[in-house]
Order: sequence, then C-alpha cells, then structure tokens
Amino acid sequence: MAKNEYDVLIIGTGLAGLFAALNVDPNLKVCLLSKTAVKSTNSMLAQGGIACEYNDDKSLHQKHVDDTMRAESYINDEKAVRFLVENAFETVKKLIELGVRFDIDKHGEFLFTREGGHSTKRILHSGGDATGSNVIEDLNTVVRTRNNIKIHENTMALDLIKVNNKVIGATVLENEDKHYPIFAKKTIIATGGIGSVYGSTTNDLNATGDGIGMAYRAGALIKNMEFVQFHPTALYSEYVTSRQRFLITEAVRGEGAYLLNIEKERFMKKYDPERMELAPRDIVSQAIYREMYDTWTDHVYLDTTHMDPKYLEKRFPTVFEYCKKQGYILGLDLIPVAPAEHFLCGGIQTDLSGRTNIDNLYVAGESAYTGVHGANRLASNSLLECLVFGYYSAKDINETISETEYIHDFHIKELPNYNYNYKPIRKKIGDYMDEHVSIVRNEQGLSLTKNVLDDIEKNLVKYPNLTKYYYETLNMAQTAKLITCSALERKESIGCHLRIN
Ligand code: SIN
Repeated sequence: MAKNEYDVLIIGTGLAGLFAALNVDPNLKVCLLSKTAVKSTNSMLAQGGIACEYNDDKSLHQKHVDDTMRAESYINDEKAVRFLVENAFETVKKLIELGVRFDIDKHGEFLFTREGGHSTKRILHSGGDATGSNVIEDLNTVVRTRNNIKIHENTMALDLIKVNNKVIGATVLENEDKHYPIFAKKTIIATGGIGSVYGSTTNDLNATGDGIGMAYRAGALIKNMEFVQFHPTALYSEYVTSRQRFLITEAVRGEGAYLLNIEKERFMKKYDPERMELAPRDIVSQAIYREMYDTWTDHVYLDTTHMDPKYLEKRFPTVFEYCKKQGYILGLDLIPVAPAEHFLCGGIQTDLSGRTNIDNLYVAGESAYTGVHGANRLASNSLLECLVFGYYSAKDINETISETEYIHDFHIKELPNYNYNYKPIRKKIGDYMDEHVSIVRNEQGLSLTKNVLDDIEKNLVKYPNLTKYYYETLNMAQTAKLITCSALERKESIGCHLRIN
C-alpha cells in the first residue's frame, strides 16, 4: 500500500475515534487524524462518567431506556436507545479489558454516581471527576502499541473526497503547509462537538464543527441540529475572557449540591419540585436562565456548603482544585455558575452501525445523529455513545471492507493561501448564536441570524483560502447556519429548544 493509502481513515482522536481504531481488525491499516495534538479533545474534558448498567438485569436496562426517553422528550428513537443501553455492559467490559480503571470501593466494587434525569446511580467514573482524561490517557497508551494504527497530528481534514456517492478519503492540510489527499476504503468522522460556534462553551475550543461542515459539503444527511444542550453549571467569572468555560460536573449535584439564585433561594422547587437540581439539563438550564432574567444578573450559585469539603476534595479533585485557584473552596463557598453550550444532540444521520447516506462514510460520537438523543441528551450517555457506536462502526468496517475497492481517481485543487485569522468573523458568529440561538429563541432573532450567517458563508465560499483558520471558520459558519435553520423550522418548544414566539 502506498504512502497516504489506508484501509480506514478516522478523523478525530476523542473517545469515539480511539475506540473505533482499537476495534478495527489489526490486519487493516488505520490512519488516525488530529488537527492539533491527539489529546486536545472534548473527551479529555468529560468529568461525570459513563452511564452504564454494568449487569445483565433486563429491568435495570429498561429503567435506563425509560430515563433516556423521558429526559429527551420522547422524540428520540427507542430502538436506538435500546441498542445503546443493551450494548453498554459488553462495550464497557471491552474498555476495561483495554486497561481502563473505574473508581471502586474498599471491597473492589464499582462506585456509581447519579446525574440529572437518572432515576438511579448508574454512572461509572474514574479518578473522581477525571473520567474523560483517564480513559483517553489509557486508550492512547494502547493505540501507541498497535503497529497498524498511524497517528497524524497537526493535520486537519479539510474536505471529504467523494466519487459517485462513495467517500474515498479526505484532503488534508498538515502543519499549515502540506496539502494532500489521504485515500481510504472507509472513513469515520469522529470530530466531536461544535462548542466554538457559540460565544461560551464547556468544549475545547478546537470543537469548530469540522465533521458537520465537511459532511454537509459532501451532501450527507444532517438532522435535529436545533437541539443544542446547555450545561447548567459552567463556572462563572466576570473577569475570564476565554470563550471556554470550566465545567462543574453535574455529579456534584448528584452527590447533593443545591442551586441558589442571587437571593439565595433554592429555586428549582418552582420548576421541577420532584427532581429539583437533578432534573434533566434542559429544564435546569432554562430555570437558571429564567432566574437570571428575573433577578437582573448573569449567574446563580452552586451551593455545597452543607457538604464536607474533605469529601468534596477527594470525590471531585479536578473541580476542587480549579475552583480553589479561582478563590472558591467547595464545601465552604458558594460557587457562581451559569449555563454554557455543552453538547449537540443532532448531527450527521447514521444507522446503528454508524453508516451514513454516503457509501463508505461512517460517523461516531457527538457529530453523529444516531437517534439515541432526542430533544435533549441524558447526562453521561455521551461517552457511552462514543463507545457503542465507535465499536459498531469498526465492526461493520471489518465485515464489509473486503468488498470495498480503492479508488484514487482524484487530483488535488490548488488554492490561494492568505494569512488571515478570521477572528472578527468567528466573534460575530459566536455573538449572534449567543444572542439569538441560545437557550431562548424567537422568530425574529433566528431570521436575523440566518441572514447574517448566509452572508458570512457566501463570502467564505467565494474566497477560499488554504489555511486551517479558513476551514474552521467555514465549518463554524455552516454548522451555525444548520442549527439556526433547524431552529427556525421547529416552531414548538421541546427539550433544549425553547421558542417564545
Ligand atoms: C458532567 O459531568 O456534568 C457532564 C457529563 C456529560 O455531559 O454527560
């Protein structure tokens, strides 16, 4: 096989990409692409854990299905949800076999926590609140022992190469100067989230909607983009200028923390008296928005002052340390928090094997719409989704690759190369999305934003530029437009999509 020819190209090195790579038949040659460094991914930032009934008990599986359906307003696909839940035990077992360790008690039994929308404790965690980083570190160690997997860092996939409705690889830009095609029989998009499209997000700022943008340009079906989840408790500071906001895991509320408004009232009793702070995220974020609006402020408080600081430090070492650096001690101080963009529930449409409407193109993880998420996403189902659909994409590839031919019928196009950074355009996209396509939406704001995004997209398409910043900005503009257009079309309020007119 020639250089830059692979059996499988995987775009993205988060949990879905790594787990898919490790489950591809070791006799197949795999290329794993990262546009920066392998560990700069959203999965690294995941704190809470992996939702999983780690047992064969059908009634507990049914409860997990029921919680997922209810939290997502019943517009998710029950068949997909059942597939996710019923494959959780076996898939997480495979993760453990690869060397990943979850937190255990003194008897060696797994410790489970609870988050919003879950009726029981079923979330496995690692290093307290370091689940994502521990899992990614461990999988990276295994990936580096596999001779069939080649990692390309600082290499951004620009566009999918499509011939006769078949994807045959992608064009890439390495270190900002080498532009070349990578050919593969099968390609998996595992590029994760879209956080950078908004002005404030819990995501790694590398999350510029790259997978969605390139799939859209290639003609892939994209669905349910209006459902963008806002995490209720990102740390708030009026002094921080970064668009990336520090996440305070919902598991802190799962272990007993309260939410207070600026008047120190426990306001969730007005919105969901039964589940209170452990209502699903759409309900909690919308409640916080309402409280902030009514009290003329831009944050509420996470209250852990009734909890033991020593316990909190041990259970949530990452959150404890970060908050301490910002001047807040968990267990002693009220922590200012506000919602921030966190997760895209829609995405590129796939079946249960990760296949899209384009031959040989698969999607796994947050950029996919598999049907498991509806109008919202149940906490900690996302890492599970990466595992289950990463695994089943790899399985389908192993089973079908022998029937797939290489096609190299492609010549790379020369493009101009200007040294623009596109910062003003990115800021404009974030500002409009925050103002009009955020927790609360209306027709006028959505239409205005659509027009602005139309103009930005047209301009970008008219003046192509062979740089990473250009392609990221194009992906952001197209992703933002897909969200806005879907939000305009859906007139009723449901889940994360709250329309006031
Ligand atoms: C959290 O720990 O609150 C986030 C986990 C998730 O998004 O499921």
